Amino acid sequence: MSEIPVCKAGEIPDGGTRLVQVGPVEIGVIFHKGQYFAYRNICPHQGGPACEGLKLPQIVEKIGDKGVHLGQDFDENDMHIVCPWHGWEFHLSDGTHVIDKRHRLKKYEVIERSGNIYVAV
Ligand code: FES
Repeated sequence: MSEIPVCKAGEIPDGGTRLVQVGPVEIGVIFHKGQYFAYRNICPHQGGPACEGLKLPQIVEKIGDKGVHLGQDFDENDMHIVCPWHGWEFHLSDGTHVIDKRHRLKKYEVIERSGNIYVAV
């Protein structure tokens, strides 16, 4: 396994993505709320650059007493990566499609050491 340098810790803003090229493979390293996530930048739908899409929270229906619908809210602890080509959504935490777990982004380990960020490939 190789460790590919990505950037210095703190260089990717919250919600931002840094792309790194490893031979023919492009990997998106995403920083969110103090955590790094890395996925191959190819959507399993039709090959779109999924990591470059919006990062949006899960929408949650708010249901009150007696089943009364109270509107919608966002679950900031369940962020989604939204592929910019056709809108497929993947959990930021593990890269799985939000509805069909058979589809997923290829995940890579992120290593933070001595103020630098690496992906393990
Ligand atoms: S290529 Fe990603 S949603 Fe279609």
